[in-house]
Amino acid sequence: MSIPTHAAGIDAPRALRRAFSAFPTGVVGIGALVDEKPVGMAVNSFTSISLEPALVAVSVARTSSTWPILAAAPQLGLSILGSEHQALCRQLSSRSPDRFADASWHATEGGAVLIENAALWLECGVHSVLDGGDHEIILLNVLGAEFFPEVEPLVFHQSAFRGLQSQ
Ligand SMILES: Cc1cc2nc3c(=O)[nH]c(=O)nc-3n(C[C@H](O)[C@H](O)[C@H](O)COP(=O)(O)O)c2cc1C
Repeated sequence: MSIPTHAAGIDAPRALRRAFSAFPTGVVGIGALVDEKPVGMAVNSFTSISLEPALVAVSVARTSSTWPILAAAPQLGLSILGSEHQALCRQLSSRSPDRFADASWHATEGGAVLIENAALWLECGVHSVLDGGDHEIILLNVLGAEFFPEVEPLVFHQSAFRGLQSQ
């Protein structure tokens, strides 16, 4: 399939989004306590960036109404979702006023919201924000990490949830 990336017209971004979905990713729940309530969103644009200093990145759509609220929080929790988190992932990207309803989570002293049964927890602060076209690239300092190697991660590929399969 050829992707008309330079073509005018509304179908180019849609075709590109579909093409980019060929790249399988994990899914991350980003959360923070705001006025004592958990606020968050699901992202699959997470990537590790640097070891020293410890940095990760996510890209967030400029149209996001949740990101500006999260960006104002002193600390953010990033939870790499596990294979059991399909429904929660949908909820974290939904229009629900309480995206954490029925979820098991806790908040750290710094206000980072972390989801139970995740494959990895990261406590982060915003390092810097870079231009990413219709997204912003958010570089995050990793302030703390807890790894759960026994948890199978949720995999997102071609707009569907999948699991890992050993070769
Ligand atoms: C699997 C999955 C991955 C997503 N990844 C991103 C992402 O990387 N960046 C982003 O801005 N939104 C992403 N979203 C969309 C957000 O979760 C959310 O729906 C969006 O921010 C709209 O809500 P808001 O206006 O409250 O921010 C993703 C949604 C899903 C289901």
